Amino acid sequence: MNRLEGKLAIVTGGARGQGEAEARLLARSGAAIIIADVLEDEGRALEAALRQEGLEARFIRLDVTSEASWAATIALAQEWKGRLDILVNNAGIINRSTVEKTGLDAWERVLKVNLTGAFLGIQAVSELMIEGGGGAIVNISSNSGYSGHYDPAYTASKWGLRGLTKSAAMELAGKNIRVNAVCPGLVVTGLNANSPHLQPMIGMTPMRRSGKPEEIAELVLFLVSDASSFITGEDFVIDGGFTAGAAYRRVASETGIYLD
Ligand SMILES: NC(=O)c1ccc[n+]([C@@H]2O[C@H](COP(=O)([O-])OP(=O)(O)OC[C@H]3O[C@@H](n4cnc5c(N)ncnc54)[C@H](O)[C@@H]3O)[C@@H](O)[C@H]2O)c1
Repeated sequence: MNRLEGKLAIVTGGARGQGEAEARLLARSGAAIIIADVLEDEGRALEAALRQEGLEARFIRLDVTSEASWAATIALAQEWKGRLDILVNNAGIINRSTVEKTGLDAWERVLKVNLTGAFLGIQAVSELMIEGGGGAIVNISSNSGYSGHYDPAYTASKWGLRGLTKSAAMELAGKNIRVNAVCPGLVVTGLNANSPHLQPMIGMTPMRRSGKPEEIAELVLFLVSDASSFITGEDFVIDGGFTAGAAYRRVASETGIYLD
């Protein structure tokens, strides 16, 4: 229960969805949590709910694309605990448009939030982490970082996050900072709740369901805790078998090899 006792964690996009589940689990595992998001009402409500449970939580309005915003978040960590041990770069957006129809603004916006935001986060936290003797960073990529999602900007950002993870892991390993990526498949959240693609995706997923935010949070907890102390620079798919071979599974079903 107290795997993260004495540690301070920042979860970006922590006000709702998977980030909320991650913030809750890390807090219940003993960490003090900075919930960092552009969604102020949801973020403050989560802060209050965690405090109600007797846990340590602070909300800050962080726009991951803004260096000034990151500086204010690091200042909060410094002033509150004088240390920083964990960063979960979870904030993300999607565009849901094709190469043909994606305008430059939309392309740049997705790359800026999903990829540049994580880069700025790693840059912002590393000094304070190093001062404290090290830390752990998890970047939330996607199984779209393994294949071609129909949104090219989202796909590029999530592939990019896997590359950033490996590069940052090499640089920071000597400073005792581990950097890994988590690549979820379909999880029903505010990001996609109204998407017409949910049922077809679930139908193609070998486990025949979407993931739960709490399941993604368990993997994040493992990767930020000492249980994973020799793992760095890796990306972990968590998608009910989708990436493992959903296309072949469908062929097998359609040709009668699998009778499900
Ligand atoms: N839901 C899925 O199926 C799925 C699958 C794979 C990966 N992911 C990734 O998981 C992460 C969490 O997504 P989710 O499903 O919980 O969606 P969500 O929309 O519920 O949560 C995303 C959070 O990021 C925040 N955010 C957006 N722009 C921001 C910015 N500029 N600065 C700070 N915060 C910002 C939002 O306010 C929101 O709280 C994202 O990176 C997403 O790409 C989601």
